[in-house]
Amino acid sequence: MAKITILGAGAWAGGLGQTLADNGHDVCMWSPLESEVASVNTERTIAKLAQINIDLPEKIWATTDLREAAEYAPYILVAVPSQFVRSVMEQVKALDIEAKIYISATKGIEPHTNLTMTEIVKDVLGERICGLAALTGPSHAEEVIQRKVTSVVIASKDDTLAHVVQALFNNTEYFRVYRISDIKGAELGGALKNVIAVVSGIMYGLEYGDNAKAAMMTRGLAEISRLGRLLGAQPDTFFGLTGMGDLIVTCTSMFSRNFQAGVKIAKGATLAEIERSGATVEGAKAVVSAHELASKYEVEMPIVETLYRILYEGQTAKEQLSSLLSRNMKAEND
Ligand SMILES: NC(=O)c1ccc[n+]([C@@H]2O[C@H](COP(=O)([O-])OP(=O)(O)OC[C@H]3O[C@@H](n4cnc5c(N)ncnc54)[C@H](O)[C@@H]3O)[C@@H](O)[C@H]2O)c1
Repeated sequence: MAKITILGAGAWAGGLGQTLADNGHDVCMWSPLESEVASVNTERTIAKLAQINIDLPEKIWATTDLREAAEYAPYILVAVPSQFVRSVMEQVKALDIEAKIYISATKGIEPHTNLTMTEIVKDVLGERICGLAALTGPSHAEEVIQRKVTSVVIASKDDTLAHVVQALFNNTEYFRVYRISDIKGAELGGALKNVIAVVSGIMYGLEYGDNAKAAMMTRGLAEISRLGRLLGAQPDTFFGLTGMGDLIVTCTSMFSRNFQAGVKIAKGATLAEIERSGATVEGAKAVVSAHELASKYEVEMPIVETLYRILYEGQTAKEQLSSLLSRNMKAEND
C-alpha cells in the first residue's frame, strides 16, 4: 500500500482521498484552512461537501503544515483550484524536499502563460519531479464521495508511471481508471470543456431547447479539437472520456459550477458578482486562454469568442448567442 499526499481538502480532494483510502492507501490532505483540516480530523467529513453525509475512512488525516504534508508521501496529488496551483507549487519548491511524483487533478489553463496544470508544476519544480501525470475525465466529487460509478483517465507520457498511478486509483466497485499517453489533449479537454459548460448554462437560462444544446456541445467539441490539434494534442483524445465524456457531464449537470454560473449570467448576473459570492468559474479563466490561443494560432472558435465577448466585453448573452446563427454557412467538417 502507498502513501499519498493531497494538496487541497475541498470537494475533489475529498472524493479522490476517500477512493484512495478505500483502496487501502494512507492519505494526508493539506489545506491552508484550519476549518477544513478540523472537518477532516474531527468531524470526519469534507467541509465543501457539507450537504452530503460522509464518514471518512480512518486512513485519511489532514494538516495545515505544508512541509509535514509534502514530506509524508512519494506521491503528491494536486487538487487545489487552478488559480492557486502556481503559488502552492512555489511554496512546495521553497521547502527544498526530495523529488516526488506529482499528479494533477486540477483542470484549467493558466491565463496568459496558457500552460496546463502539469505544465505549471513542471515550470515551477523542474528537476524536483520524478514523475508527472494528470487525472481527468467526467467526474463530479459529489458522486465520487457517494461511491457512485465513475470513470476517469490517468494521462502521462511515462507509460510505466501511468500503470502505477492507474492501479493506485482504480477501484473495481465504483472507480474505473483508464490510461492515455496524450497528456496535452487530456488536460486541454478537461480545461476547455468548462468554457462550453458556461455557454451551456447560459442557454439553459435563456430557455433554449435540447436541439440547440446538443448542437452547441458538438460544435464546442469541434472547436476544442481544432485548437488542441494545433497545440500538439492527438485529435482522438477529444472524443474519449477526457474530452467528450467530460463535456457531456459538465454541460448537463447542475453539479457543475461552470454550468450554474452560465445560468446566472443568463439571468443578468455579471462575472464579478458571481465570483464575489465565492464561486470558482474556471471556464471564465479558460476562455481567456482559449481566446488568446485562437488568435495566436488563427483558429476559428466562434463559441469561445461568444463567451469572451459576454464575460469581458459587456455584450449581452441573448444577442451574442443569436449572432452565432447568422455566421456564414459552411460544411460541418471545415
Ligand atoms: N469538484 C469536482 O467535482 C471536481 C471534479 C474534477 C476536477 N475538479 C478540479 O479540482 C480542482 C479543485 O476543485 P474542488 O471542487 O475540490 O474545489 P473546492 O473549492 O471544493 O476546494 C478547493 C480547495 O482548495 C484549497 N484552497 C483554498 N484556498 C486556497 C489557497 N489560497 N491556496 C491553496 N489552496 C487553497 C482548499 O483546501 C479548498 O477547499 C478544480 O480545479 C476542479 O477543476 C473538481
